[in-house]
Amino acid sequence: MAALGDALADQIAAGEVVERPASVVKELVDNAIDAGARRIDVRLTQGGTASIVVTDDGHGIHPEDLTLALQRHATSKLRRAEDLDTIETLGFRGEALASIAAVARVKIASRRLGESVGQLVRCRPGGVLSIEPAGMAVGTRIEVLDLFANVPARRKFLRTEATEVGHVSEALVRLAIVHPQVRFSLIHGRRTLLELSPSDQASRVCELLRRRGGTDPMRYVHCERDGVAVDAWLMTPCATTRRGGGVTVVVRRRVVREANIAKIVSAAHTATHAGGDGGSLPGRLAPGTQPVACVWVEPPPHEVDINVHPQKVEIRFGDPQRVYAAVREAMASLEAEARRAVPAAHENSRQEQQAPAASDLARPSLADALSGWTEGTPSRADTRPAPRSTASRT
Ligand SMILES: Nc1ncnc2c1ncn2[C@@H]1O[C@H](COP(=O)(O)OP(=O)(O)O)[C@@H](O)[C@H]1O
Ligand SMILES: [Mg+2]
Repeated sequence: MAALGDALADQIAAGEVVERPASVVKELVDNAIDAGARRIDVRLTQGGTASIVVTDDGHGIHPEDLTLALQRHATSKLRRAEDLDTIETLGFRGEALASIAAVARVKIASRRLGESVGQLVRCRPGGVLSIEPAGMAVGTRIEVLDLFANVPARRKFLRTEATEVGHVSEALVRLAIVHPQVRFSLIHGRRTLLELSPSDQASRVCELLRRRGGTDPMRYVHCERDGVAVDAWLMTPCATTRRGGGVTVVVRRRVVREANIAKIVSAAHTATHAGGDGGSLPGRLAPGTQPVACVWVEPPPHEVDINVHPQKVEIRFGDPQRVYAAVREAMASLEAEARRAVPAAHENSRQEQQAPAASDLARPSLADALSGWTEGTPSRADTRPAPRSTASRT
């Protein structure tokens, strides 16, 4: 038996964090957000396999920390285990840069706030090649070149350029949806794929749900139950979003995988079709569809464990049932609002389609909330005529 060399240990650890170009982008953008950046630009060539460049205008890295940052378990964000419960930064494991540098050539240029010049570090798997001064604006620019050139097995698993770019775009959207104050751009080769100006939370959610295939109007509901706060934004899906995956779940400002919450939102919606009339009625959604939605769940800080997954996409709730109950209540109150707003809703739909049967007027539902009813959090980008419903937020 022999202890693994550092380089090999880093490469093995990298397997958990760096799966594909999108995971690199996610980690670098996490870091930029943690550094307080207001502008983050991502540029890819060849789907990110040839190069990934992330530039930010955050507070930069101190010259003395620049090479330390590349070591595993080096982080400026966490000192004590207790801090994990309340940590506000996206990173805390001190693993990302070391992992990326284990599977690619990396150039980090950074100028710290208050310093007159920046520094550029070049490294390749196994070590630092050079450090030199660099003229640059305050912030950080990280280049990741020839990803997985030294891990042919990993490289083989990468998909087509278009697929990898799709994953990058998805990763960026997941971050952008919870950081509306940040300006984001994504450029692949010569094409600009994403450009988001700073905005407020509701406008950013609205813009991204639309990108996901959601159609206006957007509904919003806020509720609090047993110390768990829930904010949900919902839009009607279009044909391409019918298969699922339309529900984005956010916990502690992180987009996470939480199938149960996604299910509750979809189920609340599909249950309203139990009568078998789904899809055929004016303003109704087809059976099996789910809304395009973003659901923020905020349990008390000590009731979420965010450190159960290397990429932090899974979390654990101390009391999951309490959280699910709060989400159910949010969905129920959305239905209740729809019920109040239903006459206006049906008046709207009648203008375009046949009048609904009387029995449907008596049984309004979340489907109504998602179709005929035009209350929502107004979007800055939304230039449609003003909504006519007077229903208010809960
Ligand atoms: N874009 C950036 N701007 C400022 N500091 C950064 C940036 N990227 C990385 N760092 C510094 O490098 C450290 C290591 O980064 P990383 O390996 O991602 O670990 P973590 O984010 O978990 O701390 C961070 O703690 C931070 O101090
Ligand atoms: Mg990090």
